[in-house]
Amino acid sequence: MNSNEHKFADDIILVSKTDLKGKITYANQEFIKIVGYSEKELIGKPHNIIRHPDMPRIVFKLLWETIQDGHEINAYVINKCKDEGFYWVFANVVASVDIHGKTLGYHSTRHKPKEGALEIIKPLYKQLLAIEKNSGMDGSRKALENILNDKGVSYDEFVLTI
Ligand SMILES: Cc1cc2nc3c(=O)[nH]c(=O)nc-3n(C[C@H](O)[C@H](O)[C@H](O)COP(=O)(O)O)c2cc1C
Repeated sequence: MNSNEHKFADDIILVSKTDLKGKITYANQEFIKIVGYSEKELIGKPHNIIRHPDMPRIVFKLLWETIQDGHEINAYVINKCKDEGFYWVFANVVASVDIHGKTLGYHSTRHKPKEGALEIIKPLYKQLLAIEKNSGMDGSRKALENILNDKGVSYDEFVLTI
């Protein structure tokens, strides 16, 4: 891991699609460019190929629970590039459905995050990671629930309003 932050412009959208298990089936050119892997290296690989160790596991747990329930989720995510650098995104993840409503896979569209929001997200993720190290995901889920209860918002309301 290094401190080389890969930045991207406001109008760029990073897109990837996965199958039902989270294996990458599509990545747009902007996504390929920022992660530094070739399309060939990405297609068929589990999406955790770009997982960054600063991400609390509970966020991905919530992500999977939400999209498998048929709902969309918005989340701040730090990702790891091939060169061990990183980039932050504001991701929207949702099921890709056919005309009968059958889930074919999932897709994520990512925008540049608000700088101000990251000032809130970074310490929160640090706190959740530390709790996970000691008490696992049960601990980080409870901690996140307590934080959201104190604010009186759902996770989605929280990320959309910071
Ligand atoms: C459409 C879609 C996009 C995803 N995008 C990312 C991503 O950009 N970065 C990431 O670390 N995980 C992403 N995930 C979540 C991964 O599938 C995985 O849950 C996560 O990397 C944690 O990996 P682990 O369960 O092996 O710890 C995505 C999942 C889906 C369905």
